[in-house]
Amino acid sequence: DKAEDMKPRPPVVTIMGHVDHGKTSLLDAIRKANVVSGEAGGITQHIGAYQVEQDGHTITFIDTPGHAAFTAMRARGAQATDIAILVVAADDSVMPQTIESINHAKAAGVPIIVAINKIDKPEADAQKVRTELLQHEVFVESMGGEVQDVEVSAIKGLNLDRLLEAIVLQAEILELKANPDRTAEGVVIEAKLDRGRGPVATVLVQAGTLKPGDILVAGNEWGRVRALVNERGQQLKDAAPSTPVEVLGLQGTPQAGDRFAVVENEAQAREISEYRQRLAREKAVARQAGQRGSLEQM
Ligand code: GTP
Ligand code: NA
Ligand code: MG
Repeated sequence: DKAEDMKPRPPVVTIMGHVDHGKTSLLDAIRKANVVSGEAGGITQHIGAYQVEQDGHTITFIDTPGHAAFTAMRARGAQATDIAILVVAADDSVMPQTIESINHAKAAGVPIIVAINKIDKPEADAQKVRTELLQHEVFVESMGGEVQDVEVSAIKGLNLDRLLEAIVLQAEILELKANPDRTAEGVVIEAKLDRGRGPVATVLVQAGTLKPGDILVAGNEWGRVRALVNERGQQLKDAAPSTPVEVLGLQGTPQAGDRFAVVENEAQAREISEYRQRLAREKAVARQAGQRGSLEQM
């Protein structure tokens, strides 16, 4: 892509942190507080990702069980996240999965924003969290570092705006861009077989613009896009970079972390997916043979 084709795109944010520190509560609180006006009556369905507006800036949140999705995608080499929100409960402070999350974000080169959660609790100690984070080389601003930290309460809805502002600021530093005027590609966030609608994949468009009628290959599967649906159940005419969207029309169910790309025609799509399915079968057979081989050697 030429530099002049690159256009600003929203940040894609994942939430990480120790069990029960409030990841789901925080995502739910942000989503509830930011229902776009006029759409409040819409049925919000869970599609594993959603977008909110903050002072005219769009932010994309991936809300599949953050940690698992992030790890699975990284294992598959699919970098889907621009910014990681590290949720640390102020009454529990830094715990093993907090440290794991820090290591994941650092390994992926993804900047962290710390959300010190549960500050409504009497036993909350935000300063202890900041001090313990120092030991893991997360230096928050008030400790002379560059990592933004925001004290929040997901339950009371405290300081959610400040957290969104921190994300917007971090995104501006990153100068995130993508070319919307090319064939679409991106990553599968989650996928399922829906009884009524058939295979449904929630994808994140990372470059190009996805449209109904496009033919795409996602992992080992392919299909012609029958409809693009957002988290409010609305059908979209197109999905630009950083837009999460449900894709209907796939022939099968791809896996979280699979990459997808739009191709020229059905013949090409079929050829690629048949080739990949054959490779997958051969790998499975080889694996079984390997297991038999090592058993025979015992
Ligand atoms: P896992 O997905 O199981 O790792 O947990 P989680 O990080 O998603 O935490 P979750 O949102 O499920 O919250 C865990 C518990 O903490 C629940 O009982 C929440 O009600 C509670 N909780 C979350 N945020 C807050 C908060 O800001 N204040 C208080 N007092 N409780 C909170
Ligand atoms: Na929980
Ligand atoms: Mg949760």
